[in-house]
Amino acid sequence: MSDLTTFIGRVQIRNPLILAAGILGSTFSTLNRAYQEGFGAVVTKSVGRHPRDGHPNPSVVYIPETDSILNAVGLANPGCIEFGKELVKIHSDVKLIVSIFGSTAEDISSVIQCIENNIGNSKSVAFELNLSCPHVQKVGMLVGTDPKLVYDIVNQAKSITKTAIWIKLTPNVKDITIIGEAAIDAGADALVAINTLKAMLINVEARKPILANLRGGLSGRAIKPIGIRAIYDLYEKFGPKVPLIGVGGIWTWEDIVEYFLAGACSVQIGSVLSQYSSPQFIISELLTGLQKYLVQEGLSLHELRGLAHE
Ligand SMILES: Cc1cc2nc3c(=O)[nH]c(=O)nc-3n(C[C@H](O)[C@H](O)[C@H](O)COP(=O)(O)O)c2cc1C
Repeated sequence: MSDLTTFIGRVQIRNPLILAAGILGSTFSTLNRAYQEGFGAVVTKSVGRHPRDGHPNPSVVYIPETDSILNAVGLANPGCIEFGKELVKIHSDVKLIVSIFGSTAEDISSVIQCIENNIGNSKSVAFELNLSCPHVQKVGMLVGTDPKLVYDIVNQAKSITKTAIWIKLTPNVKDITIIGEAAIDAGADALVAINTLKAMLINVEARKPILANLRGGLSGRAIKPIGIRAIYDLYEKFGPKVPLIGVGGIWTWEDIVEYFLAGACSVQIGSVLSQYSSPQFIISELLTGLQKYLVQEGLSLHELRGLAHE
C-alpha cells in the first residue's frame, strides 16, 4: 500500500483528503465524526467576530443535471466566542483547521485572537482565511480581490499567531495568481483554491430568481475544470515550494489525481457529501481508488504532484 501521509508546509496529516469549509463543520460532533470517518483533516464553517443570521431561505439549491449546488448561506455563524465553546469539545487528535472571515486586517486578526483565547493556541493546526465568499457584501470575495488588502490581512495575521495561515482564494478574479502572490509575499503558509463561483438560477414559472438572496455561489461537479485551472495556474507560477490545496467538484478518485497532476498537494471535499448520509463510504472509496492508482503507476503522492506540467 502506498503511504498517503501528506505535508502541507509543516502541517502533517494522515491522508490528503480534507473536509471543505461550510460542509458538516458547524458543530463539534459533526467535525469529530468527519475526522473519525477518515478525513485527514477537517475545516470548520467560517466564523466571524459577531453572530450572523445569514441569508433567508431558500439559500441552498441542488442542481441534479450537473451534480452542483447553488448556495447563499451568507456566512451564518454564532460568532467567535460561541463557536469557541463548540471547538473546545473537539477531540485532541483531530487535525482541525478553523475558517475565519472578516472585512479588514484588524477584524480578521481579532477573530483569530478570539478563537485562540477560547480554545488555546495548539488546538488548531491552521487558520484558513476565507477571502472568497461570493454572496456576502463587504466580506469574503470583496476582500479577496484586492491584492493590497490581502497582503495586509496575511501580514497582520502572521504577526499575531504562530499557527499556520492558509488563504482560500476566489475564482471570481481575472488572474488568481496575483492574489496568490500577495498572500505568499505576506507569508501565507498555503493557498486553497477555489471557493464557489458567482451564479444565479431563475424559476421559469415564477419568473424570479430561486434564491432569496438572488445571487449565490456555485459548487459541485460543474466547477471542477475551473478549480483544476486555478491550481494549474498557481503551480505554474510558484512551483512545488508553495503548498496548494485543490477544492471544487471532487466526486471521484480520478478527480483527486487530476488536482494532484495540476499541482495540488492535498484536496478538500465539499458538495459530494450531500449525496451520502455519512462521509465514511465516499472517503473510503476515494482513498481506495487513489491507493490502487498509485500502486499501479508506481508513484508516490509526492511524485504525482505537478506531473501535468512536465
Ligand atoms: C452549503 C455550502 C456552504 C459553504 N460554506 C463555506 C464557508 O463557510 N466558508 C468557505 O470558505 N467556503 C464555504 N463553502 C465553499 C466550499 O468550502 C468549497 O470551496 C466549494 O463548495 C467548492 O468545493 P465543492 O465543489 O467540493 O463543494 C460552502 C459551500 C457550500 C456548498
